Amino acid sequence: MKKLTKRIYWDERWKDMELPRYRDMKTYSMQLIDKLLKKHVKSGENNKFIEIGCAPGSWMIYFYRNFGFKVYGMDYLKPGIELTKQNLRLANVEAKLYWGDIFKNNLKKNYFDIVFSWGLIEHFDNQQLILRKHYELLKDGGQLIVFVPNCQGLNNVIQFMFNRKILRAHHKITKEEMQNLFENLKMKDVKTGYIGYFSPSRYDPGNVFGMSKYKFKKLHDAVGGIANPILRRLPYFESKYFSAFVYGIASK
Ligand SMILES: C[S@@+](CC[C@H](N)C(=O)[O-])C[C@H]1O[C@@H](n2cnc3c(N)ncnc32)[C@H](O)[C@@H]1O
Repeated sequence: MKKLTKRIYWDERWKDMELPRYRDMKTYSMQLIDKLLKKHVKSGENNKFIEIGCAPGSWMIYFYRNFGFKVYGMDYLKPGIELTKQNLRLANVEAKLYWGDIFKNNLKKNYFDIVFSWGLIEHFDNQQLILRKHYELLKDGGQLIVFVPNCQGLNNVIQFMFNRKILRAHHKITKEEMQNLFENLKMKDVKTGYIGYFSPSRYDPGNVFGMSKYKFKKLHDAVGGIANPILRRLPYFESKYFSAFVYGIASK
């Protein structure tokens, strides 16, 4: 299994992150994703939810608060686990955290109601294998939910212009590929799609006009807040050309 990133890539990413860190539901993309999840995720208090590659825990906070799940997280970087611990403490969220690698772990198989990852499987060259590792943790009837950045279309052009080296750390996954990955596992109720709007800050845009990535994200969100309500009336707005993410949701 070839990894497209090294540990230093993630260390760098978490080094200057400001806490507390939540999912910002004010952005249009996040509102769409929130709606999608509330439509398809089977709720149930005390359902066991695990995020693979969980640092800094912002999705764990989201699922704890919005679905009342018991939340678990796993990350293979110690600093990522420490950051998650701090973030969850600030958010008053109780959770179990595991420091470990999805490819070699002691997590209970057939145990979780929801297995989730966001921005993980595209960093490996064998997505089927890593998806199978997610699947093994799921109990029968449980749901697998995976989001990856959409490495096609306008977002990619912007990314290429400002920070093309980051593209090498991402394997492009289309909606059709996502569908095949889930179907190969013989999963039920498979739903896949493009979601979210034009959003170059979904991965690191690099040093754009001397701005830090967090400043760039704030600027981008402000511009998006004005432009996207207009742009979303256009046909093909949620598509491989403009959307920020590709998702897959299915049941075991
Ligand atoms: C793009 S980040 C996603 C962070 C988080 N899911 C989010 O959306 O905020 C990917 C995370 O996966 C972790 N990771 C990478 N390879 C891993 C592996 N083999 N097993 C477990 N975690 C891994 C990294 O340390 C990093 O924290």
